[in-house]
Amino acid sequence: MQVNKTVRSLALATATLATLVAAGCRQDMHDEPKFFPQRGTTFYADGRSVRPQVASTVARNQLHEDTYFYTGLIDGKEGNVMPFPVTMKVLERGQERYNVYCTPCHSRVGNGEGMIVQRGYAHAGDFHTARLEAAPLGHFFYVISNGYGAMPDYSAQVAPVDRWAIVAYIKALQLSQHATEADIPTNEHTAPLASIAEKEGLPASFAKPWTLPATATYGTPNDQSFVLPDPGSSASGAAAPAKTHSPAAAGTTAPKQ
Ligand code: HEC
Repeated sequence: MQVNKTVRSLALATATLATLVAAGCRQDMHDEPKFFPQRGTTFYADGRSVRPQVASTVARNQLHEDTYFYTGLIDGKEGNVMPFPVTMKVLERGQERYNVYCTPCHSRVGNGEGMIVQRGYAHAGDFHTARLEAAPLGHFFYVISNGYGAMPDYSAQVAPVDRWAIVAYIKALQLSQHATEADIPTNEHTAPLASIAEKEGLPASFAKPWTLPATATYGTPNDQSFVLPDPGSSASGAAAPAKTHSPAAAGTTAPKQ
């Protein structure tokens, strides 16, 4: 009887000790000295736990030595070369990213009459105007990175390498509008859009020029050249040239299919 009691109290003491040890460990992990993100501290004189970058240092992955790749500019002017070779893979990636991020406004064919514009948003740039066909590659990169007039920038959504892929794809879209029979591989079947639409059971209006609601306003007129913003003069960063043309005057370009 006595032995039994001793065993029991020994077991109880062991269990209590084990609980205390375990609890002690847990508490330690909870209370160890550490900074919570964005929370203040008395440890540093400026009261911030998040430390500012040390002057004259570069964080990992932030050394953007290749400025053309990251800005599209050469000596402050838009360059007209691709920073890397354009392969079919690059074009496919560009097409995929373009279809995700640009078609809602610019449409899949790049005439600037995407679904959001058809619902009344400002008319997005038509890539098939003479000015944008002649625009240097860096211009497209610059517009994606910094926005343009009514267009927000897509620098957060689209990484620089993908921006260039999109630029290459836009060039392909532009070239597609000037394709000749000689560009089509032999034995490749071609047909006018109207007959394709008919065969697919699409409405006849499918192959006709697109119509926009009166609420779709024109931003930068298609024939106005783009001027890089003067660094330091504008806090917004995006160039917003004067919007002078009326929709009737600017909306005469026939959409391409
Ligand atoms: C939310 C709608 C919207 C989206 C999405 C959008 N854009 Fe635009 N974009 C516009 C509008 C609107 C304009 C015309 C702005 C103006 O003229 O004020 C424009 C203009 C442009 C221009 C013409 C600039 C010029 O010199 O006239 C280019 C190039 C362009 N966009 C590229 C792109 C690319 C590439 C993407 C995808 C990464 C994209 N945009 C996504 C709305 C959009």
